[in-house]
Amino acid sequence: MSEGISQPDQPQTLEGHAGDKDLFSKFDDIIAMRQGLLDSGVEDPFNLVMEKVLSPTRAICNGRETILLGTYNYMGMTFDPDVVEAGKQALADFGSGTTGSRVLNGTYQGHKDVEEALKDFYDMDHAMVFSTGYQANLGIISTIAGKGDYIVLDIDSHASIWDGCAMGNAEVVPFKHNDIEAMEKRLRRIPEDAGKLVILEGVYSMLGDVAPLKEMVAVAKKYGAMVLVDEAHSMGFIGEHGRGVVESADVIDDVDFIIGTFSKSVGTVGGFCVSNHPKFDIMRLVCRPYVFTASLPPSVVATACTSIRKLMHGSNKRAHLWENSKNLHKGLKDLGFQLGTDEPQSAIIAVIMPDLQQGAAMWEALIKNGLYVNLARPPATPANMTLLRCSLCAEHSEEEVGEILEIFEKSGKAVGII
Ligand SMILES: Cc1ncc(COP(=O)(O)O)c(C=O)c1O
Repeated sequence: MSEGISQPDQPQTLEGHAGDKDLFSKFDDIIAMRQGLLDSGVEDPFNLVMEKVLSPTRAICNGRETILLGTYNYMGMTFDPDVVEAGKQALADFGSGTTGSRVLNGTYQGHKDVEEALKDFYDMDHAMVFSTGYQANLGIISTIAGKGDYIVLDIDSHASIWDGCAMGNAEVVPFKHNDIEAMEKRLRRIPEDAGKLVILEGVYSMLGDVAPLKEMVAVAKKYGAMVLVDEAHSMGFIGEHGRGVVESADVIDDVDFIIGTFSKSVGTVGGFCVSNHPKFDIMRLVCRPYVFTASLPPSVVATACTSIRKLMHGSNKRAHLWENSKNLHKGLKDLGFQLGTDEPQSAIIAVIMPDLQQGAAMWEALIKNGLYVNLARPPATPANMTLLRCSLCAEHSEEEVGEILEIFEKSGKAVGII
C-alpha cells in the first residue's frame, strides 16, 4: 500500500482513545486505487479543471483547447443566446437566489413558468421541479414506495434511484439489466395485493443502450404495477418531440411518472417529475427532498424554461445529433475499438477499455491530444468494466466528429489499444 494511507489493522490513535476505529478506514481500498493510478504518473482523470468554456463543444482545459465529448450537453443549449439572456434578465429582476423552500418563500413566477413549460413539453397534467435530478428520484421514489410496498428495478439503475429506494424502505427487487423475462419473474412472485412500482430508465448512461420499454411497460401493467421511467439521457433528443424513449416506444400514456433533469439536454441544473396521476399534486406537501431544501435560483429556472420551450422545436438539432452518433459509432468501430452497443442507440457511445490502468492511459492520451471524454470505472459501471464514455452534442459539427476520430486513432495507437 502507498505511503500516507492508514492501515486498517493499525488504527490511528488520538490521545486517550487508543483503539478507536477510524471511520475513514472503509475508504482505504478506494484511496489505494486512486493513489496507485496517480503513482503510475497519469494526469488525474477525476480532477479536470475547465479554465474557460468557449462553447458547448470547446473549452480550455489545463491550458489546452479541448473538444468536449463528455458533458451530457446533448442539445448544446448552454450558450444558446435566448437561454443566456433569460438567465441574465431573471438575475437582474429577481436576484441571485430564493433563500427558501418551494412551500414557503421559494416559489417565484419562474418556478411556475418552468413547470408549465414541462407540462407543455410532455403534454401531461402535472409537473414538479426539484433542485436536482438526484433529488427528484430520491424524493418521488422514497415518497410513493414505502414499507410494505415493492420496487422492481433494473440492476443497472442510477445511484439516485437506488438511494430513493433505500430512503423509502420498500422491498427492493432488482432484475438483470434489460431482461424482460427476469423482470416478469420478479413481478410474478410479489403478493398480488401489494403496492408495486417498476423503475426503468429510457437510456442507460454507462453503455448508452436503450430499454425495451414497449415490452417492459406491458409486463408491468399486466401485474398491476405503477411505472416510473427516468429519461435523464433521452429528454430533448429521443422521440419525435424529444420526450424520450417513452415517446419513441409509444408508451408515454402507460407510464405513471417520468423523471428528468435539467443538467443534460436542458443545459442548466435541476430535476423534475411529470405525471397524469390525479393526486400527484399532494407530492408538494409530503415529499421531503422537495419540501426541506431551497428552491432553484430564478436565473436557473428562467434558463430551463427558455431551453425547454426551444427544445420543443428542436427536430433539426435532433436529426443532426443522430448523424453525429452514427458517424462516431461507425468510425470508432472501424478503427477497431470495442463499443458498448453494436449499433448507436443514443447520444452516448461507450468505448470499452481492457482495464483501469489502460483506460486511464488512454484517457490521458486523449486529453493531451485535445479531447475530453469521461473515464468511468466500477462501481459506477456494469460488469466491472472500465469505459471511456463519449457523449455527443448537437453542436458538434461533422468536421469535429472527424477530428475526434483522428484523436482516437492517434491516442489508441500510442497507448497500444488498437
Ligand atoms: C439516469 C440519471 N438519473 C438522474 C440523474 C441525476 O441528475 P442530476 O444531475 O440532475 O442530479 C442522473 C445524472 O447523471 C442520471 O444519469
